[in-house]
Parts: sequence; C-alpha cells; structure tokens
Amino acid sequence: MLKTTFLGIELENCLMNASGVHCMSVQELNELAGSAAGAFVTKTATRDYRAGNPEPRYYDTKLGSINSMGLPNNGFDYYLDYVLERQKQGAKLQFLSVTGMSYEENIGLLKKIQESDYEGVTEFNLSCPNVPGKPQIAYDFDLTEKLLAEVFSFFTKPLGVKLPPYFDIAHFDAMAEILNKFPLTYVNSVNSIGNGLCIDLDKEEVVIKPKGGFGGIGGEYIKPTALANVRAFRQRLNKDIKIIGTGGVTNGRDVFEHILCGADLVQVGTILHQEGVGVFERLSAELEEVMRGKGYSSIEDFKGKLKTLD
Ligand code: FUM
Repeated sequence: MLKTTFLGIELENCLMNASGVHCMSVQELNELAGSAAGAFVTKTATRDYRAGNPEPRYYDTKLGSINSMGLPNNGFDYYLDYVLERQKQGAKLQFLSVTGMSYEENIGLLKKIQESDYEGVTEFNLSCPNVPGKPQIAYDFDLTEKLLAEVFSFFTKPLGVKLPPYFDIAHFDAMAEILNKFPLTYVNSVNSIGNGLCIDLDKEEVVIKPKGGFGGIGGEYIKPTALANVRAFRQRLNKDIKIIGTGGVTNGRDVFEHILCGADLVQVGTILHQEGVGVFERLSAELEEVMRGKGYSSIEDFKGKLKTLD
C-alpha cells in the first residue's frame, strides 16, 4: 500500500530520516538502512572532519526542538566510502548530503562526487543555519543561481537541494524561477527554521550554548511552514523536479498532509531523534490507517491533490 518509486527505483515507503538525525556514524547509518525507512540520507558532510559547535547544542521542547549543531561530521571521504561500499553490495537508492565551508569547497565536493564511482543521489545542503558567520546560501538568490550554474556545468548525476523555509510569496516565486533553470532531481523543503530562541523560564536562560542560544527550530512548531513550502514549490516547479517534504512530522496524519501538498518522499527529523529508528514502523502503520480510512490504496491516489476553497 505504501510502496512508491523514486528515480525509477521501488521503495517500501516514502519515509526517510532528515539529514543530521541518526546518520553521523556507520553504526547509525546501518541502523537506518536496516529500519523500516524507505531510504536514508547521510549527515551533511564537509570536506574535512568537523567537531561542530560546543555543547549543549540540541534541546527537545514540548513542541519540537532547537539545535545549533554546527555541522559536526566525519568528513566527506567517510560518507563517500560508506555509500560506495553499500553500492558495491547492491544498495539501489542512497542520498549523500554535502555542503562546503566556502564557494570553492562546494564546487570541489561536487567535482569529487562527479569523478567518483558513486551512482546515487546527492543532496546539496544550501540551508544550514548554524555555522557562526556563514549565512544560509539559499537566502542569497544570486549566489544560489551562480553556484547551481557552475555545478551543473560539470555535474551529471542526480542532485537535489535542501532549502531553508521561505515566508513570502515573492520569495517562492523567485526561488522557483531559479530552480526551474536547472536539471534538479528534487527540492527538499524545509530545513529547520533558522535562528529561533528557546528559553528555560526557571533559569531565565537559553537552552543551548552556541550563538547565544539561537538555533534551528524543528518539530511540531514548523509543520505549517513546511507544508506551505512543499505546496508552494509543487505549484511552481517543473513536474520533473520531485519534492521531499521535511518538517513537523510526528504522526501518520502529518505524513499524509505532506503528500497531499505534493511531497514524493517525506523526511523525519526531531521525532526520529526523540523516538529512534522504530518511528518509521509507527509512521508507516499510522499512514496506512489514515489511507484505509479514506479508501485510498496508494499514495498516488492523493499526492498533490490538496483542495482549496475557491
Ligand atoms: O548544525 C547543523 O549541523 C545543521 C545542519 C543543517 O540544518 O543543515
């Protein structure tokens, strides 16, 4: 009932982790690969190993989470080696997430992927809000266009971009116009809502250490923003650009809503962090229950079919 395809490859379901959650080490990645998730993505890799920001840098709240991890990761080669090894063993669909600390590093990473034997999908993260002094690339429209133009002058493998949330119709229009110029495999909306602030009232203090307590907000708080971004991009992007919906999923109804807005795959962040990889089984069962209740037998029955009140 939940089976779907992506790039012509059949998946058990549309569920994945969001990059950053449960995907830093080989052990975590193996747990994801062995879970009920339909696919997985690696932690966003930079060229070199990064320790990330000082702790505490992640905090769960009643309605979600705040984090300022600062791109801790084991370095690009670690993740490339992992996906190459699994590819040798027959893995069909894998997502390798990367971002650079500079324009040149971004180009260098994508050249390395292009020159490698990797045949899977690359997720180009243009939206990490947590590296001090480095604004999110995808909020700079000219830079995004310049970067994608250079990338697609040599990159011929499947590539998607991870975007931050946008909050204005003019920005949906402008970003979609840029994205439509490129042969993107998919757009992933949204990364966390950047630079929120959560406070411990008793202590009258912020809850995470980096950046004076400012960090990316995830979980229930962000579902309406995530749905709006999925919907807005589905309405504007060329049909051959797929959409991955990320943000605010805590149950099967939320997954259903992302698909209704046009998501082809749905990623899970905060709730995966809170519940562990067993969450994929629960979400699958809950999504099936919603579908059965509505008489749907496949996700194509309702994908992108959100109605408006005209
Ligand atoms: O801080 C982090 O590592 C988060 C990365 C992201 O949101 O892309």
